[in-house]
Amino acid sequence: MSVTLFRNARIFTAEDPGKPPAGSQQGRVTSWDRGALLCQDGIIEAVGPEKEVLAAAGRAGPADEVDCGGRCMIPGFVDPHTHLCFLEPRETEFLKRLDGVPYLDILAAGGGILSTVASVRAASEADLAEATRKRALACLRFGTTTIEIKSGYGLSTEAELKQLRAAAAVGRSTPLTVVPTLLGAHAVPPEFADDAEGYVELLVRETVPAAAAAGLARYCDAFCERGVFTAAQCRRVLEAARQAGMGLKLHADEVHDTGGAALAASLGAVSAEHLLSSGEAGLRSLAAAGSVAVLLPATAYALRKPFAAARRMVELGLAVAIATDCNPGSSYTESMPFVFGLAVLGMGLSVSEALVASTLNAAYAVGEGRRAGSLSPGKRADVLLLDGETPGIVAFHAGVSPVAAVYANGVRAWPAEGLQP
Ligand code: NIG
Ligand code: FE
Repeated sequence: MSVTLFRNARIFTAEDPGKPPAGSQQGRVTSWDRGALLCQDGIIEAVGPEKEVLAAAGRAGPADEVDCGGRCMIPGFVDPHTHLCFLEPRETEFLKRLDGVPYLDILAAGGGILSTVASVRAASEADLAEATRKRALACLRFGTTTIEIKSGYGLSTEAELKQLRAAAAVGRSTPLTVVPTLLGAHAVPPEFADDAEGYVELLVRETVPAAAAAGLARYCDAFCERGVFTAAQCRRVLEAARQAGMGLKLHADEVHDTGGAALAASLGAVSAEHLLSSGEAGLRSLAAAGSVAVLLPATAYALRKPFAAARRMVELGLAVAIATDCNPGSSYTESMPFVFGLAVLGMGLSVSEALVASTLNAAYAVGEGRRAGSLSPGKRADVLLLDGETPGIVAFHAGVSPVAAVYANGVRAWPAEGLQP
């Protein structure tokens, strides 16, 4: 049995009401000036004022002690939307976009997502897993302890499953908890050019059932966008996924409003993601359905689009989460602190709202709300120590990582032993 006591920390955490905090609850954060956290075998036993936790620790027996030196402690970040499983970022394409070529035009010409598809198809599973593992470790250094990883660069049953297996391998080869999502409906592959319906048929009949049978995907997602998949096509794929026992997510209204938010709501999806172009009616339907709005401000930043209407979403009573969208094209960053900073300074969330968005609501958006996202007894002891006094440092200290140390399941995951935090 391993018992660890973290003491002398300024602790900030959402208190978990058992569902994603929404609307006026989004910014509810509890803090203790001189706090402590006790965990046993990777699970939080007690958290609160140091004196109270020390009393509980006395009962739990001998503990390893971590003196946090008055640093700020928050839950590990949960990154609920990534496309982490690829080999190389598309740097040339980035330069083209800077010259004014639109993201969707590059895809329509066979580049963009489709050029990543070509390299992922050609890669061995071992090479793909290794590239993904390295990238996941970069996420970990920036404080991510739970991460969703989507497929979507295989676009054949075999290559999608290869990506999902590579994602699962990251869960075994790193301290991160990985939530895998099937995104077979990410683009229409070249062999189905001009026959999107035929590809949807393949997904429904073969890919979705195969991923479900192999137990490789907890969620299924689709890219609902003009020139990619229509709302009706996404509905077919997601209904098949629901029948196969997966939870549902949707890339909704990223570039154009094609009814994505309303579709996600009508399917009871756990989350609708992007929402850069959603109309008021779509947002209202998401609020009524209780789907989490997963916002990706680094994507808006890199595509030079206006940020999602996060303040309006909170006003409408939505639960907001934030994520990196880390991918080789539209958002190439592993850094949740960067996204946190954009959420505060670009989208107008308060620091407390951004903290909930990057931890508890993000955990609910990937089905991990009961196990992660807040420093609550019974959850994984996924803990960050920050070089600062409050979570505000994450937005304030821009462009670098404010993360001094990362503990996953109660064990120090970064910096490696021997390096002082
Ligand atoms: O969420 N838009 C669809 N998918 C990703 C981008 C993937 C890529 O460009 O490789 C996104 O932005
Ligand atoms: Fe995405």
